[in-house]
Amino acid sequence: MKRSAINQIMREAVKFIKEMRFHLPPFACWTVKEWQSKGPEIQEIIENQLGWDITDFGRGDFYKYGLILFTLRNGKFKDASKHAKPYCEKILIVEENQNTPLHHHFSKKEDIINRGGGTLQVEIYKTDDNDQLSEKPVSVYIDGIRKTFEAGSIIELNPGESIYLTPDIYHRFWAKNGSGKVLIGEVSTVNDDYMDNKFHEEVKRFSDIKEDEEPLYLLYNDYKNYLKIN
Ligand SMILES: [Fe+2]
Repeated sequence: MKRSAINQIMREAVKFIKEMRFHLPPFACWTVKEWQSKGPEIQEIIENQLGWDITDFGRGDFYKYGLILFTLRNGKFKDASKHAKPYCEKILIVEENQNTPLHHHFSKKEDIINRGGGTLQVEIYKTDDNDQLSEKPVSVYIDGIRKTFEAGSIIELNPGESIYLTPDIYHRFWAKNGSGKVLIGEVSTVNDDYMDNKFHEEVKRFSDIKEDEEPLYLLYNDYKNYLKIN
């Protein structure tokens, strides 16, 4: 993806998040200079992968296959210490018919929540013994209510509604055609997108970036390139 495209996506994301009356933490809008003026006190932001994450899944067509995420809080993936943070919270934006490709997680359990905007559509399958799509029915909890669906069912979530997904469930989601884009909340166990995603078809979780202008705000995948990390 071009950096100029990522910057424009960020500007629109900040505007939409404001329209939805959600508020991002201050580091969401730090400039590169502000990032570089900080010291070891921001270690948790860097190590726990907090911040912006924008991807086209390596497919070069962001509005068909793409996702905007902002990780608000997260623990460390393999931290077993007594006071380790065991949870993660993200805010995501999906456009109408903009797909997050079919995937499941090895470890993460997550609630996907429609926080506002249009209707979210989520397609679900159970994993089979070969880590492929099972034809068996899928049981999930929707706002605390257990429901069972045929494999490949598309579940619709309107603002306020949520689905609980366990690691044995493949899922794909997008905003319903004609309903408007959706602000999604994600509340989950600790997350590491470098190692905890299994996509059904091979995709690149992080896009290669063509630097054609300065970053408006850093992606968390940029920290290693822009900040001195000890
Ligand atoms: Fe997921």
